[in-house]
Amino acid sequence: MSQPKSMDAIMALCKRRGFIYQASEIYGGINGFWDYGPLGAQLKKNLREAWWQDMIMNPAWGRKGPNGERVRCVPLETCIIQHPKVWEASGHVGGFNDPMVDCKESKGRYRYDHVMVFVPESGDPGDKPVFAYVGDQPSEAKQRKKAEKTFGAVRSVALSSLPQPWTRVIGPDAEKPGTLTEPRMFNLMFDTIPGAIRDEANKAYLRPETAQGIFVQFKNVVDTTRVKIPFGIGNTGRSFRNEVTPRNFTFRSREFEQAELEFFCHPSESQDWYRFWRDFRMEWWRSIGLAGENLILREHDKDELSHYSQGTSDVEYRFPFTAPGFGELEGIAHRGCYDLTQHQEHSKVKLDYFDTTRGETLPNGGKKGERYIPHCIEPAAGLDRGALALICEAYTRDESRPSPEILRFHPRVAPIKAAVFPLVDKDGMPEVAERLADELFRRFGRDGFIETDAKQSIGKRYARMDEAGCPFCFTIDGDTLKDQTVTARDRDTGQQQRIALDKVAGFLAERLA
Ligand code: GAP
Repeated sequence: MSQPKSMDAIMALCKRRGFIYQASEIYGGINGFWDYGPLGAQLKKNLREAWWQDMIMNPAWGRKGPNGERVRCVPLETCIIQHPKVWEASGHVGGFNDPMVDCKESKGRYRYDHVMVFVPESGDPGDKPVFAYVGDQPSEAKQRKKAEKTFGAVRSVALSSLPQPWTRVIGPDAEKPGTLTEPRMFNLMFDTIPGAIRDEANKAYLRPETAQGIFVQFKNVVDTTRVKIPFGIGNTGRSFRNEVTPRNFTFRSREFEQAELEFFCHPSESQDWYRFWRDFRMEWWRSIGLAGENLILREHDKDELSHYSQGTSDVEYRFPFTAPGFGELEGIAHRGCYDLTQHQEHSKVKLDYFDTTRGETLPNGGKKGERYIPHCIEPAAGLDRGALALICEAYTRDESRPSPEILRFHPRVAPIKAAVFPLVDKDGMPEVAERLADELFRRFGRDGFIETDAKQSIGKRYARMDEAGCPFCFTIDGDTLKDQTVTARDRDTGQQQRIALDKVAGFLAERLA
């Protein structure tokens, strides 16, 4: 297994090259919120569009599903704020809670399962205080130092492994022991009050997932289009969760973007569809560049499953901050008929489906039909975690290069598709470069930037493009003017070849596909 990459170096590159900025940075930032700079915004757009294309417009790359037919999906775009009853029906009002511990001294609030404590490496701490921290927060280094001063060598264990009351535990940001409360449940939904009257009775929520918008519009989609079971509905957009300990860069944010598909099918076919989507989703992440050993598919154990789920798998990526472990990129869940049944009960609107292809065969050869609540398979991906995984996977250091940091993005998601450089800013080269850049822009500019740059040495310009993840550079030099050829440089190998000026667009088209 290779060494984990440095998250500090990746975050610094993301800032330096305009991928990701802290939200409201000039005011000191706001915890759990991130903005995307020009390259990050385009990277995420390419990821979203790859999802849209491969999940909705041409689902599963045109493959046939387990029923032997082409997979069919349609898109939907639903509101961030829905009727509050949506979240009662979905279980988010009653159940979307994390256990939290508060600190009476620092007023800090921490997710119970994220709090760890340092104890002596061997043996019991006796009556000495033990030091709590939350991983990856500044508290970890500070508390480790104090713990090592008290115990020498230390190891960390979960706070939950210590019996309560925690009279000897010093909270992550506290000085005195015994200030952590016992865990209490905390709802993760942000609330707001639409309209002019600030009355609690009018309270609504920012959606914590895009999926419920699909269930509540299921009937409208069936009634207003020609979809027939089995089919999927896809929805992408912002979701909000008041995460108690947002951390690990964009991995756990309070505002993030999801891309979710709800695939509706007959109960008897649901296990086949579950396996179909689970396997396709893994293949899909591989196809856009997460091809190595850092990507795994993890089937949930029975005791991890929600009561309604008949199977869940996670696509997980080994991020530098989770290594040697993995973090979830996407969950693929067999949700049975849970959601539609819940909304049917709460809304009193029938959400079943009349399937004219099933039931007894009639004397005329037709079918009697069958009424049922479809089962649902849900591949639910996070686009911010996806973009972060693409950045982490692409990040490579090659000390043999003049500028060692390279982002080896898959060409499909790369935010800059190509760069065109005049070797020098004179002798007719800028004009040829400009014409070539215009041609490339017309053909590929919908999917990413076509850069031109005449400043600095050519080596420095290549290095800048390597850092931004641009897969190909084309250089116009003195020979171009004589023989109409250019230098094509490959980001990953650094190798250069001469190709005809009028073949550049074709060369790029082959490699961006
Ligand atoms: N409808 C199911 C659902 O929302 P989830 O596992 O809670 O399932 C799906 O979320 C995906 O959304 C996750 O796999 C992850 O990629 C992303 N996600 C969830 N919470 C997130 C957060 N706080 N920050 C960034 N991404 C998050």
